[in-house]
Amino acid sequence: MIETIYWNDEGVVMIDQTRLPNEEIYVTCRNYQEVADAIRTMIIRGAPAIGVAAAMGVAIGVAKADPANLDAELAVISKELAGTRPTAVNLFWAIDRMNRLYSEIRHLPYEELRDRLIEEAKLVRVEDIEINRAMGRHGAPLVPDGKTVLTHCNAGALATAGYGTALGVIRAAIEAGKKIDVYADETRPFLQGARLTVWELQHDGIETTLITDNMAGHFMRAGQIGCVVVGADRIAANGDVANKIGTYSVAVLAKENNVPFYVAAPISTLDLTLTSGEQIPIEERGASEVTQVFGIPVAPAGTKVRNPAFDVTPNRYVTAIITEKGVARTPFVESLRALAEQK
Ligand code: MRU
Repeated sequence: MIETIYWNDEGVVMIDQTRLPNEEIYVTCRNYQEVADAIRTMIIRGAPAIGVAAAMGVAIGVAKADPANLDAELAVISKELAGTRPTAVNLFWAIDRMNRLYSEIRHLPYEELRDRLIEEAKLVRVEDIEINRAMGRHGAPLVPDGKTVLTHCNAGALATAGYGTALGVIRAAIEAGKKIDVYADETRPFLQGARLTVWELQHDGIETTLITDNMAGHFMRAGQIGCVVVGADRIAANGDVANKIGTYSVAVLAKENNVPFYVAAPISTLDLTLTSGEQIPIEERGASEVTQVFGIPVAPAGTKVRNPAFDVTPNRYVTAIITEKGVARTPFVESLRALAEQK
């Protein structure tokens, strides 16, 4: 399996996703500032992977902090990490988890406290892989045999600690013996579909076809797509889903063409404090992602640009939400809460 992120004696190691698919380079972040930069610049990206990075960022921050000033330093570390990207709630979930543990064990001697936080961050990573496998088991039966699955962005091993959410469901369906192939939207402007999804599915020998984002409707209308499976960055209590920009268009096209639209996401991606997707903060990224492709201008100099990195798909377009605890269907307010409260 592809190693997206792990901890070693030198720091937090991540595959540099800005260099894929042309170069497979691992970078080591030796302090929390470098982890924060890696999240901000999308060396690591994808909601669950960002969560693991944030947990490890807190751990390495405490490991490098002044033991006499830990409370204050942890607050600074947490603020810096929380300021990296606004949409994926897993980032805040992981920082909260690490802070909660710190509060419980802050009376311990520094070395012990530090080691416990490092172990917790490693646990967030291991649990994420287990969660993705469980999600795969719940989602695999929904994927129609002998059909093409369309996915948008990268919700795979690279977006998680391993195996993936949406791609985990696809992997699990194939492991269960289903004959499935994948259409991957290229996912402008950052090209997570073309660069990352195609790379990792090829790596696993899964038959994959790359299409540009504006081709999805054409293939759905032609009856060539059996279902859509995507990931999520934040899901509101009513089942509205924030995911990579372009997901909303895919969902509307899916409904119009009677194609089931599934979202695969861990419980840590639910934000039950928000009643609807309207309240989800949407990250706006820099203009150069739109005006350039690999540094080459594709628009006149000075072009005015908008670059929202995510959109919100209203719950009426979502057929089901696949989590590690089971599958939620409409009415999502009840089904999501029931899954979240399930032990
Ligand atoms: O901007 P990114 O690449 O971090 O956005 C990633 C996505 O939108 C993914 O679809 C989402 O995080 C789900 S990942 C399992």
